[in-house]
Amino acid sequence: MKTAIVTGAASGIGMGYATALVEQGYFVLVTDINEIGAKQVAERLTLRGPGKAEAALLDVTDPNAVAAAVHGVKDRFGRLDLMFNNAGLFIGGPVEELTVAHWRKAIDVMIAGVAYGVDAAYKIMVDQGFGGIVNTASMAGFTPFSYLGPYNTAKFAVVGMTLSLRGEASAHGIHVTAVCPIAVHTDIVAGANAGLDGNAPEFGYLAALYRRFGYLGHYLPDFILQDPVVHGRKVLRAVQRNRAIVIQPGYGRVLWWLGRIAPTLAPVVGHGAARLADSIRASITERWEQLPESVRNA
Ligand SMILES: NC(=O)c1ccc[n+]([C@@H]2O[C@H](COP(=O)([O-])OP(=O)(O)OC[C@H]3O[C@@H](n4cnc5c(N)ncnc54)[C@H](O)[C@@H]3O)[C@@H](O)[C@H]2O)c1
Repeated sequence: MKTAIVTGAASGIGMGYATALVEQGYFVLVTDINEIGAKQVAERLTLRGPGKAEAALLDVTDPNAVAAAVHGVKDRFGRLDLMFNNAGLFIGGPVEELTVAHWRKAIDVMIAGVAYGVDAAYKIMVDQGFGGIVNTASMAGFTPFSYLGPYNTAKFAVVGMTLSLRGEASAHGIHVTAVCPIAVHTDIVAGANAGLDGNAPEFGYLAALYRRFGYLGHYLPDFILQDPVVHGRKVLRAVQRNRAIVIQPGYGRVLWWLGRIAPTLAPVVGHGAARLADSIRASITERWEQLPESVRNA
């Protein structure tokens, strides 16, 4: 039986990858820091089959735990076909209002966490002579955005890590892919800066708005805001065709090419966005402070 491991698979894009894999008959280890969510996903997928899924609590910031999960699958099934390093968080705000904790969290989860998964899976794949590593980056992995410093930094690193490995990995028969989602309908924005002290009221307000109105995203078509399972199926097909970079939904490719043709454009747009944000900041801060404590900390 072919096997795969997905990190951050209790919800959103990771859940979409796990679904697509089980649909193709894989055994999938559904891992997440949210153990209950991971179990629910694994149970649901196993019921649907034809593959099967199991859940495991896994914090990607713990390299020993990541290695144990990866070796566990290899020891049990004799092979590891695909490793999806996907866990991530939305972290940002004006840099002068962030703390070292914001940077630390982005680096730990989205750079180190991906590197630990690569480290553990790649060595096994080199030994067995096949396999694929899929790292979830973002459009923020090739386009700089104002107020997304820690997130942008981490995602640029993931693109660099993936493309740097891709060449040498191909010599061992291993495929390596960077996925750059643009807009997939998940709860990532609802958890913006969760658990991190700091100011950035815009991000708190954005998260609260998303928790309140995010469900409306279901009414948008997939070519604008993609369903995570649709996304998972498209990504898996692209991975099986050994694509280096997968950008979804497709309109993101326009931004990719624009960034290459006119690399100075994004900082200019970012300057305008920052000026605009500054001009509405006072009213957003006021609204944020008026929200009940229960909504702010939901
Ligand atoms: N949704 C989008 O439009 C979008 C766009 C670009 C990139 N991404 C990337 O896709 C990936 C998945 O995000 P999503 O949108 O599905 O969000 P999500 O919040 O639905 O899923 C992220 C998952 O990661 C888990 N996680 C967080 N920290 C973890 C840790 N330390 N160890 C293990 N698991 C952890 C969370 O519990 C959650 O289940 C992220 O890397 C994100 O940056 C998403």
